[in-house]
Amino acid sequence: MEAMELLAQQCADCKKCPLGATRTKSVFGTGNPDADLMFVGEAPGEQEDLTGVPFVGRAGQLLDKYLFAVDIQRKNIYIANFLKCRPPENRDPKPEEEDACIGYLREQVKLIRPKIIVCLGRISAMRLIKEDFKITKEHGRWFEKNGYLMTAVYHPAALLRDPRKKEDMMQDMKRIKAKLEELGGKF
Ligand code: SF4
Ligand code: URA
Repeated sequence: MEAMELLAQQCADCKKCPLGATRTKSVFGTGNPDADLMFVGEAPGEQEDLTGVPFVGRAGQLLDKYLFAVDIQRKNIYIANFLKCRPPENRDPKPEEEDACIGYLREQVKLIRPKIIVCLGRISAMRLIKEDFKITKEHGRWFEKNGYLMTAVYHPAALLRDPRKKEDMMQDMKRIKAKLEELGGKF
């Protein structure tokens, strides 16, 4: 079996933290395992928990619109979350749950080796780029970490709450697309 499939299998049956007992389905990630662009969100919500697919609820549909607007196809990129199971009532993940789960994301990144990693939202950026990440000030900026080019954008759920952020999101998505093209990446 391919390494990525094997990892997905482990994740599907995972009981490494208490969320393994309350989830419906774990949400491993979807897309091209050879992607050049990878998005990383926070944790599955209700629709994701039911379907096992990341970003399919309202926030996900908004993300799809931005991808469409900059002519990026979901099947050519990879989308995952740093926590694979839904916290009950969408509460914030606990540090021990994140610590138990982060290994899956690390392995995914190692297997995919994307040219660009985009954090969706502040929580993901704080976990993956730097602890004191300020999303309002630092969204759209480029960071280099462990040999990966990284950036963060507003979480689509934040855009639903505050539509004034949508213009910034569009600009960030255009910049990400331009960088991907510059690096010769698939989209
Ligand atoms: Fe396993 Fe992660 Fe789900 Fe916890 S959240 S049970 S560590 S897959
Ligand atoms: N929000 C996230 O961060 N991830 C999802 O998969 C859905 C909503």
